[in-house]
Amino acid sequence: MRHLLSISDLDKTQALSILDTALELARISDAPVKKLPTLRGRTIVNLFYEDSTRTRISFEAAAKRLSADVINFSAKGSSVSKGESLKDTAQTLQAMGADAVIIRHSASGAPRWLADSEWISGSVINAGDGTHEHPTQALLDAFTIRKHLGSSTGDLQGLHIGIVGDILHSRVARSNVLLLSLLGAQVSLIAPPTLLPVGVESWPAKISYDFDSVLPHLDAVMMLRVQQERMQDLFFPTAREYSHFFGLNRDRMALMKKSAIIMHPGPMNRGLEITAECADSARSVIVEQVANGVSVRMAVLYLLLAGSTQEQGVLQ
Ligand code: NCD
Repeated sequence: MRHLLSISDLDKTQALSILDTALELARISDAPVKKLPTLRGRTIVNLFYEDSTRTRISFEAAAKRLSADVINFSAKGSSVSKGESLKDTAQTLQAMGADAVIIRHSASGAPRWLADSEWISGSVINAGDGTHEHPTQALLDAFTIRKHLGSSTGDLQGLHIGIVGDILHSRVARSNVLLLSLLGAQVSLIAPPTLLPVGVESWPAKISYDFDSVLPHLDAVMMLRVQQERMQDLFFPTAREYSHFFGLNRDRMALMKKSAIIMHPGPMNRGLEITAECADSARSVIVEQVANGVSVRMAVLYLLLAGSTQEQGVLQ
């Protein structure tokens, strides 16, 4: 595997091997010295055309823990704001000898375009493209679910995961539906009809408009951010009404199974899709998702880049 562009590029064995590798690498993140020499001398570029906090710093931390050199390129303040095309930027990165380009872009398909182009010879990793996919987020979510609720076979068989809210604009939802179902979980999408994409019936997931009826059956409740910046139209009458029907609050938390966990990819709109009380509760794994993101991204970089040059024994 050279690139990670979409969860649909992975089969179950590959997905599980990323999660297993991440588990091994997580041990290093717990050690006082958090470094492995594996990617020494390799150059990794973080090419971010859209705002990001956790994904960018998570990839940066992952690359540095594997001893790679990291170049952070954010479109703001670069020649991109002078109108430079993705092609010209790609050629510049190639000239600098980038071994991997981690790209976030508002256009769905931009990472695929870069990977298919002749301008980049290294690996391309999709860090979120438009409303399309965000594969490493889904992998870190699956990793987190597996850690808390996984079966002895290592997959997510028998679990029921709810993804709640702004499915329409969510690349996190798309990647998660593909990955969680690949790993054997049952997925329910819970949203108002206006926030579900056309063609959602063909996704490997059940659809519900009634949060309260599904909630007691869920093992993990994944709340999504209402993506106001992608909304040109009115998708729900008022924020208050949205929270009333689709927000996670104290009353709803009381309906959850005892063992069920609360997730959110961040950034959260506290008070809209989730109350502070739920986000900060003992059953919330939201902060842990961020920590797991580093291990999962280390695993992806390791598996894509270390290849045959990997140092023996590193993962033993
Ligand atoms: C998500 C994203 O950017 O797609 N955030 C993230 O990567 N942690 C979700 C979001 O912005 O709502």
